[in-house]
Amino acid sequence: MAGLDYWRTLPIKQQPTWPDADTVAAASAELATQPPLVFAGEVDILRDRLAQAANGGAFLLQGGDCAETFSGATAEQIRNRVKTVLQMAVVLTYGASMPVVKMGRMAGQFAKPRSSATETQGDVQLPSYRGDNINGMEFTPQARIPDPQRLIQAYSQSASTLNLLRAFAGGGYADLHNIHRWTLGFVSDSPQGARYHELSEKISEALTFMAAIGVTPESHPDLHRVEFFTCHEALLLGYEEAMTRVDSTSGDWYDTSAHLLWIGERTRQLDGAHVEYFRGVKNPIGLKCGPTLDADELLRLIDVLNPKNEAGRLTLYGRFGYDKIADRLPGLLRATKAGGRNVVWAIDPMHGNTLTANNGYKTRPFDRILSEVKSFVEICKAEGVHPGGVHLEMTGQNVTECLGGARALSEGDLADRYHTHCDPRLNGEQALELAFLVAEKLKEDRVDLARRAAVSI
Ligand code: TRP
Ligand code: MN
Repeated sequence: MAGLDYWRTLPIKQQPTWPDADTVAAASAELATQPPLVFAGEVDILRDRLAQAANGGAFLLQGGDCAETFSGATAEQIRNRVKTVLQMAVVLTYGASMPVVKMGRMAGQFAKPRSSATETQGDVQLPSYRGDNINGMEFTPQARIPDPQRLIQAYSQSASTLNLLRAFAGGGYADLHNIHRWTLGFVSDSPQGARYHELSEKISEALTFMAAIGVTPESHPDLHRVEFFTCHEALLLGYEEAMTRVDSTSGDWYDTSAHLLWIGERTRQLDGAHVEYFRGVKNPIGLKCGPTLDADELLRLIDVLNPKNEAGRLTLYGRFGYDKIADRLPGLLRATKAGGRNVVWAIDPMHGNTLTANNGYKTRPFDRILSEVKSFVEICKAEGVHPGGVHLEMTGQNVTECLGGARALSEGDLADRYHTHCDPRLNGEQALELAFLVAEKLKEDRVDLARRAAVSI
């Protein structure tokens, strides 16, 4: 079998030009001696959970920043994002009546693919910003030089973020009895906040009833904690290689930088380095499927990445755009279904719906995001495929990056709190609104299925 570094012989996209090979090699060697961030057993649990989603019995909620930053990993920001994910998870679990797999684009989501290797301002041209793990965002020659020390910093920041995530997930914060505490200040007086409050009252009442019949966090520890998984785009293969270890029990290779890694739209070439690398590790893998991907190529990618056709190994994220999904998705769904490929079909309604506002801000109209999600559920239903999840760029902060939503953010509002280092994210309120919409659509789906089952009896 090809060695772990065989990818180095293949064509590769979206890598930085490091100024000096020796310092990168030294940083990678140092990373390779560090403890793993996640463990093989957890990765296997995630594979099982995703297998359930592939079989129609669970829903994947995956969300977080477009790009994490070194300055943004404060306790407050991490907690606010966790709050938003927990709220959305409650809404979805209740609406869809099925387990929700909770996964943060967190603790490692730094590297960004760029459409151009350079950025020009006035008559100055510099290397593009590629994420805090590679170079600095400031538009100065010094900041834009790729610096391998940043790889080490990204690792240690991922470790401290993950430490806090584990504490929130298992230490009592995520206890369902805390359901009222997850609403962010700015969300509480919104229509979404009111709706959430109503739902959480119902759930609290149900919990009181359950306690009366003996179902308590003591007897059922799952009431008291959540499983929270991490993921990021596996862009920088040198880093991923340095974090890949053999599991001593099974002898298999695991990329221990996160539970799930995905291959982006720009790096999914069949004969390229990224696909080759992720063939060789055991983690669940994600694959972005954009409007140019045709069914034949998708099937070939699936067969390379998941030759044993294991459910839970591969999650596909459609990301077409609200106006292209009806044209592109049905053919892909039919191909995987007719070919008997066990995959999770999820939707990324963010990346196909980006535009530049008249005032120069990169933004995303919220109604287009909602529209792509709705179409996704409807098309899945028409094709007899389980709509298995959503992949979102969102934050717990009260940002103004996506247009629209219940407060009808306009182009003029974008400048108020536009903080992203890369793509525009949903704010806490928009994220919650989207969760309610998805929950409703999934519920319709469930009610329809029940009705059909009743008729056929
Ligand atoms: N552990 C269960 C689950 O993850 C129940 C649960 C506990 C939960 N805390 C939660 C569900 C917070 C959603 C949100 O489904
Ligand atoms: Mn993005």
